[in-house]
Amino acid sequence: MQQTLTDKVVIITGASSGIGAATARALAREGCQLTLAARSTHRLEQLAEELGRSRTLAVPTDLTDGAAVVAMVEQTVARFGRVDVLFANAGIYIPGQVADGDPEAWATLMDVNVDGVLRSVHAVLPHLLAQKSGDILVTSSISGLIDIHWEPVYSASKHAIQGFVHTLRRQVAAQGIRVGAIAPGMVANELWGFTDPAQIAAMAERHASLTSEDVAEAVLFMLSRPAHVTIRDLVMLPQNQDL
Ligand SMILES: NC(=O)c1ccc[n+]([C@@H]2O[C@H](COP(=O)([O-])OP(=O)(O)OC[C@H]3O[C@@H](n4cnc5c(N)ncnc54)[C@H](OP(=O)(O)O)[C@@H]3O)[C@@H](O)[C@H]2O)c1
Repeated sequence: MQQTLTDKVVIITGASSGIGAATARALAREGCQLTLAARSTHRLEQLAEELGRSRTLAVPTDLTDGAAVVAMVEQTVARFGRVDVLFANAGIYIPGQVADGDPEAWATLMDVNVDGVLRSVHAVLPHLLAQKSGDILVTSSISGLIDIHWEPVYSASKHAIQGFVHTLRRQVAAQGIRVGAIAPGMVANELWGFTDPAQIAAMAERHASLTSEDVAEAVLFMLSRPAHVTIRDLVMLPQNQDL
């Protein structure tokens, strides 16, 4: 029996665009109560308005700020009474040659892609442990499973996520908490500079990219499995991505 997601309280980081925003829309259709976290206040407020303020809370949060992450989780519990799911999804992308790179920019990438996930998980975990249930789902990447040479720092950040997810899963499994990673290949969205829906649809039509909505559907699948089933890793690629 698949689990119903109705009324589940879900925190989504990186909810202001791309995969996070698409997942917020998909989970809202399932009747979830949502905390939307990212830095772009205006975009979060717009999405909260679209999805309905009665079940949606926009909490502008910079994931590199530990106190802000703790406050975001506290605001969620104050508003909805609990947390059922953390979708730790926010991330940034920097490709390129190491020789030409900027170590300060890499440090920011690690701070968001890795430490931001660790901070979010640490802030949410006491609530999940107390209720002995819940889901932690992290957006990894195909770049976390294979070494992609044109994006070494990004690939390293997602490898770190894979290691964290797999070890955390075993630490908390006996407490009724599921932990998994979703690892997409190319998703045509703002991470790559794509904003035109027609262009995104055309790329999907050519099987050259996934859409943010494709990933959102996979997130729904993972979260709605029966409680005894953990999807530890879900890897999804555009049909003809050559990786
Ligand atoms: N697009 C792809 O091809 C692809 C493939 C595999 C995996 N992924 C992963 O998917 C996840 C979501 O990315 P996306 O594809 O949906 O791209 P996106 O549209 O660029 O979304 C990135 C999200 O992260 C948020 N973010 C960035 N820095 C942040 C910070 N310091 N604090 C809080 N939020 C921050 C952004 O919001 P603000 O700017 O408003 O803060 C935005 O909501 C990332 O982890 C990415 O690595 C993407």
